Amino acid sequence: MKRLIEADDISRKVVELGKQIAIDYRDRPLTILGVLTGSIVLLSDLIRAIDLPLKVGLIQASSYRGKTTTAGELTVNTELVPDIADRDVLLVDDIFDTGQTLDALSNSVGKMNPSSLRSAVLLWKEGRRQVDRTPDYHCFRIPDAFVVGYGLDYNDEYRHLPFVAALEDDEL
Ligand code: IMP
Ligand code: MG
Repeated sequence: MKRLIEADDISRKVVELGKQIAIDYRDRPLTILGVLTGSIVLLSDLIRAIDLPLKVGLIQASSYRGKTTTAGELTVNTELVPDIADRDVLLVDDIFDTGQTLDALSNSVGKMNPSSLRSAVLLWKEGRRQVDRTPDYHCFRIPDAFVVGYGLDYNDEYRHLPFVAALEDDEL
């Protein structure tokens, strides 16, 4: 694999993002909704970088995927979402690729009557967008490669890596 983003650089950006979120949501009832499973590492670092009172919830998006990023039908599980009516919600996910996932999640969460809804991702893949929506916050733009680490997986492996790396063709 080829390393793209080192742990130190991720850490610096996530702290910066946390500070920005703390400025933008000051005096507002914030709920951070982490998208399972890819967001878990970012979620745990990001919430500790936001110096505000906040609530944390989880939401699950699953799709029947092939080996890489070809998505099938997307299912949203809202069972782990706390009451977000009249709260400001920030959806946190690992990566914005085609945007289908964040689009579907935003539509589901939007129906739960939050007073506002935005999204934050660690990575935004260049040139792959298929929806009329972009992430409100992102840490890094990356080229179109299949990446793993810091929560991102390949067949549920590699999520624990503290850095982000691109898998080579013969590793996929
Ligand atoms: P989207 O719906 O096409 O934006 O894809 C978003 C979801 O696909 C993410 O939540 C990831 O789970 C997965 N995904 C997309 N690209 C990658 C990648 O390069 N590595 C690992 N997972 C990816
Ligand atoms: Mg995922």
